[in-house]
Amino acid sequence: MLNFNAQLANIIDDLSENGYAVCENFLPATTIKALADNAQDYYLNNKMSAAKTGKNTLAHNANIRGDCIYWLSEDDLNPDTKAYFDQMHALKQALNTQLLMNVHAFETHFAVYPVNGLYQKHLDQFNAGVGLQSRQLSSILYLNADWKASNGGALRLYLNADSSIDVLPNAGRLVLFLSNTFWHEVLPANRERISLTGWFKTRSNQLL
Ligand code: OGA
Ligand code: NI
Repeated sequence: MLNFNAQLANIIDDLSENGYAVCENFLPATTIKALADNAQDYYLNNKMSAAKTGKNTLAHNANIRGDCIYWLSEDDLNPDTKAYFDQMHALKQALNTQLLMNVHAFETHFAVYPVNGLYQKHLDQFNAGVGLQSRQLSSILYLNADWKASNGGALRLYLNADSSIDVLPNAGRLVLFLSNTFWHEVLPANRERISLTGWFKTRSNQLL
């Protein structure tokens, strides 16, 4: 297993070359397991809400997007969610110093897709109004132990008009991609699918 600095260096290289990166074992297996348990608790105790699509005004539509989500607050972190935030902050530093991405904020939520849940092909960046933060880099950390190809549930990431890659949601795997560039979808799975999804955002598209 690579140490964290080596992982970061690989991520930065891949992002600058391809605009996306896939990193294995982003956090220790025990932390990933604890995060999965956290998400399960929120889900089973009805603390999650049905995810909406596009801007907040759009209604929930499970045919477009079937997951339930729980937003994490940095004020309310246990040791495992803190370990995750610490790594994401280190990554944010590297994005700014090495790729000059100028990202300031990181927002993140747990997502649980029930069996057969999906998220149709979409882009994560929608036009933010003046003063709103805008998503630059999407990040998904998968929390599913013993995931098999036969379970389905891949992230299908479209690299261009005629090619795509399928990334299975294996525990500890982190996927990053430029939010305004990569169309993607979540394929249905025959088991529950858990992740921590986040976005690095610019402060705003202020009028300067
Ligand atoms: C999203 C999304 C992909 C995944 O939440 O916007 O595309 O693999 N998630 O969970
Ligand atoms: Ni998305």
